[in-house]
Amino acid sequence: MQGVKLVKTQDKSLTVEWLDGRMAQFPYFWLRDHCREPESLNQDTLQREVDTFSIPEDIRAETATLSGDGSKIAVTWAHDGFVSGYEAAFLREMAFGPEGRVKRKLWRGGDIQEDLPEYDFADIQAGDKGLLSMLEGVEKYGFAVINGLPTNVDATRDFITRIAYIRETIFGGLWDFSANMAHSDTAYTTADIGPHTDGTYSFDSPGLQLLHCLAFDGEGGISVFADGFKIAETIREEDPEAFRILTEVAVPGHYLEEGVHLIARHRIINLDDDGELEQICFNNFDRAPFLLDEARMMQFYNALRRFHDLAYDPAMQVRFQLVPGKAVLFDNWRVLHARTAYTGFRHLAGGYVNREDFESRLRVLRKA
Ligand code: OGA
Ligand code: ZN
Repeated sequence: MQGVKLVKTQDKSLTVEWLDGRMAQFPYFWLRDHCREPESLNQDTLQREVDTFSIPEDIRAETATLSGDGSKIAVTWAHDGFVSGYEAAFLREMAFGPEGRVKRKLWRGGDIQEDLPEYDFADIQAGDKGLLSMLEGVEKYGFAVINGLPTNVDATRDFITRIAYIRETIFGGLWDFSANMAHSDTAYTTADIGPHTDGTYSFDSPGLQLLHCLAFDGEGGISVFADGFKIAETIREEDPEAFRILTEVAVPGHYLEEGVHLIARHRIINLDDDGELEQICFNNFDRAPFLLDEARMMQFYNALRRFHDLAYDPAMQVRFQLVPGKAVLFDNWRVLHARTAYTGFRHLAGGYVNREDFESRLRVLRKA
């Protein structure tokens, strides 16, 4: 824990300096709104109880004091004399984000092909430590390969529900598919499927996807993955104009079958408020018709081509075969997946997990 070195009241905000020299400013209005006392914050549910809009707009601190070890700050408010206490760790996280997060490692195929993030199902089932280690693999690389799963859908379900409940979609919850055209999607054929992310026709594209091989007796059907974040960063570096267009143009995706007509729009590259990569949505097969003015339309195609060419570049890809008992869990907001054509019989099961449920499981496991 980083202790606080000093606190200083300014006109409209409190300045906090930590022992490592990092500094941050907290507006008084924000501080009163984020008061941690039982009068302001329900201690059981952590729901806000302070009435934000009865806080004086020009609220000021009379004094701010630091507890002896630098772990707590007390602010006395000028207008009513109320004292709000804050943990130094809380303010630090607000200013600089959570500590100890796994750093993403962006990759080209060759970086990891010989050293894939692989995990044993037995270790994952044995306890939370194994589960956390596998999920941190997904956080770091965008995917994890799991070996030794029993080849039945009960194992698929058990595995996904260790992470979270299975998301319901047009394909059901837990799905299992072979080439039978149960839905009007290439997933249900033996054809080659190029690199894509799933659910571009959903406003909330699935966060994680599991593909679990139950049976395979044939040729081909190689699974291919590419790091969409690496592709995006490569474009950002080499062609900033194309990068910008991919962050700006809202591309509609659609899914059609009897009685269903889904459409949603996404930028292909989505950034957070700091300009960091947040989500890739790329599925050229499911792109719905849309038209921009001529210049913009052609700029878009050129930018899309750059993304496409990198996604299809073997140097960017890892490849492996899903054999019975092998599964791959991947971050559908980051990694593109594909599979080559195949002959024979192939039976996969799998499902989706929402993004927030994946992140929730990570937070809870880390805290334990
Ligand atoms: C899909 C898909 C991959 C596979 O269903 O969207 O990409 O290995 N399937 O069959
Ligand atoms: Zn897919």
